[in-house]
Amino acid sequence: MILKGKKGIIFGALDNKSIAWKVAEFAHAEGAEFILTNAPIALRMGAINELAEKTNSEVIPCDVTLEEDLNNLIEKATAKFGQLDFVLHSIGMSLNVRKKIPYTEINYDFMHKTFDISAISFHRLMQTLMKKDAMKEWGSIVALTYIASQRVFPDYSEMAESKALLESFARSFGYHYGKSKKVRVNTISQSPTMTTAGSGVGGFDAFYTYADKMSPLGNASAEDCAKYVVSLFSDYTRYVTMQNLFHDGGFSFTGISGDIMELVGRAGGTESSN
Ligand SMILES: NC(=O)c1ccc[n+]([C@@H]2O[C@H](COP(=O)([O-])OP(=O)(O)OC[C@H]3O[C@@H](n4cnc5c(N)ncnc54)[C@H](O)[C@@H]3O)[C@@H](O)[C@H]2O)c1
Repeated sequence: MILKGKKGIIFGALDNKSIAWKVAEFAHAEGAEFILTNAPIALRMGAINELAEKTNSEVIPCDVTLEEDLNNLIEKATAKFGQLDFVLHSIGMSLNVRKKIPYTEINYDFMHKTFDISAISFHRLMQTLMKKDAMKEWGSIVALTYIASQRVFPDYSEMAESKALLESFARSFGYHYGKSKKVRVNTISQSPTMTTAGSGVGGFDAFYTYADKMSPLGNASAEDCAKYVVSLFSDYTRYVTMQNLFHDGGFSFTGISGDIMELVGRAGGTESSN
């Protein structure tokens, strides 16, 4: 029960494949209480009420692009719980990816929307929390990211820049929140995971299999990601802040794996000297 007595907000549980869904289940099992939230349209389409019942949580709608929604959510959360111990930002959406528009022909209105939903929302959320003094000292804020922020994955499109921005907000806001309130802010860079957002990216199956074969431990599952998030909400990680933490089975530091060498060799992709 490493989260016993801790209270928070979990953004982004759409269905039972969502990483946020698994975080809610594990956080509940570890003794946390929380509010579940998502965009109004996602609440209508998703199955969040089932999760709310299971975890004994209230659901409050919030479109993260709208300041008034964030104000309302955080006011209601603090009225219920007092100051918060943890917040999870598990949100991503790109219209250019969804509409399969090639990266070199991107629509800039869509791009603004993508940045607003997937990255600027993280700053907006932290600014609202700070203005309302909604976080407890030593509280923990976590957002989810992907390694395409640092290395090129062509089909990830403008989500790559979104994630770079998100990771940068975690560092910069993490400094200010650490100084003023001892609140820690981190991003977790997760393996490809079979969720609605994940499988919306073109060529996702190849992405997934490649990462699995490159990682000495294989791809990390959504359940394992949730356990890592829970550890970051706990008191066992109080001095971890402003970090981008890889949760990827070793993918990020592997140049090439035996499995990939074998596959390329079998496909006749290597020039043998004998
Ligand atoms: N699935 C992967 O392969 C993978 C890998 C690394 C990182 N991530 C990141 O993990 C996070 C969670 O994604 P997921 O894979 O669980 O997929 P998901 O589709 O289950 O979750 C994405 C969530 O974002 C929410 N959202 C979209 N627009 C919103 C808005 N305007 N306001 C509030 N919420 C909004 C959706 O409703 C949904 O619940 C995202 O940041 C994603 O980029 C995913």
